[in-house]
Amino acid sequence: MRVLVTGGAGYIGSHTLIELHASGHDICVVDNFDNSSPEALNRVTDLIGAPVEFHQVDIRDRAALDRVMAAFRPEVVIHFAGLKAVGESAKLPLRYYDVNISGTLSLLESMQTVGCNRIVFSSSATVYGAPHYLPFDENHPCAPTNVYGHTKHMAEQILTDWTAANPAASVVLLRYFNPVGAHPSGRIGEDPRDVPNNLMPFVAQVAVGRREKLSVFGDDYDTPDGTGVRDFIHVTDLARAHVSAIGYAAGHSGTEVFNIGTGRGYSVLEMVTAFARASGRDIAYEIAARRPGDIARSEADPSKANALLGWQAEQGLEEMCASTWAWQSGNPQGFESS
Ligand code: UD1
Repeated sequence: MRVLVTGGAGYIGSHTLIELHASGHDICVVDNFDNSSPEALNRVTDLIGAPVEFHQVDIRDRAALDRVMAAFRPEVVIHFAGLKAVGESAKLPLRYYDVNISGTLSLLESMQTVGCNRIVFSSSATVYGAPHYLPFDENHPCAPTNVYGHTKHMAEQILTDWTAANPAASVVLLRYFNPVGAHPSGRIGEDPRDVPNNLMPFVAQVAVGRREKLSVFGDDYDTPDGTGVRDFIHVTDLARAHVSAIGYAAGHSGTEVFNIGTGRGYSVLEMVTAFARASGRDIAYEIAARRPGDIARSEADPSKANALLGWQAEQGLEEMCASTWAWQSGNPQGFESS
């Protein structure tokens, strides 16, 4: 299929390009490099051994986006482009609503100009908010607790309303749990611009000597070792879920939502131990206060995706840590290392 990928230079986007290419799809990338690097696309080009069509366009720029749509005429869009930092979203709510909501509206309107009516959307398990029960299934009520989560939940609603008004349209909402890891080559990976908010990139930067020590946010949760438990999913597994999702969108109309996780949680300290083993480095850490807004556990019930998308996570904790280390040790300063 002809697949337009917004945010294709980002962490999950770049890994997805590789899986799309491997499955024989034609790709066109739109990215404004707000939180990504052109070098990621150079490396994807090297890895797949073929050029990747790319346009530096902000999805809120309708005229520019319409030109790309008219020339490429996508059969499906995978929409990654968006802002994703929870803490920043509380400080800059209007920016988050603009990029994540206005951006999605602009994209849908632009798709309509060429009759493209299939879209796969990057959503997040953060839409569930605090668990009423675990593991989270797709019927769990949604009650996001931060601005970023609100934008994801609202965008899901907009897309759902769009399919209700367009019976031929197809929307697949993917609710990601905690993406980690990197391409096994270590050539692409997660490259946070500032101090990492998320656990894995922080641990990796401690291992490589860029940060002194990890703060473990709380060891008094109701979990086996007291630290937070998350459903970490390898980014290449997550990338493959998008390939399955575009196939599903091609064969179905309406909106469908899927959890994308492994179903197996690991604690913060289990991650630290596994990363120390994979890297051969000590990971210095201290126990710190809980981070406001954090929950004790988050685990997916991925059975719906397993059944309907024919997809399941294949990579374990060892591959998550080894690939992250291959990326971080080979690129201590991320894409700027090159
Ligand atoms: C966070 C976001 C979530 C987003 C997801 C993926 C918050 C509250 N939630 O999820 O909305 O969808 O990232 O980008 O930010 N931890 C430490 N020390 C650190 C960093 C994290 O102990 O320096 C712990 C956290 O307390 C948590 C676990 O590691 O228990 C995972 O944290 P993180 O990687 O930030 O992911 P989430 O909080 O699950």
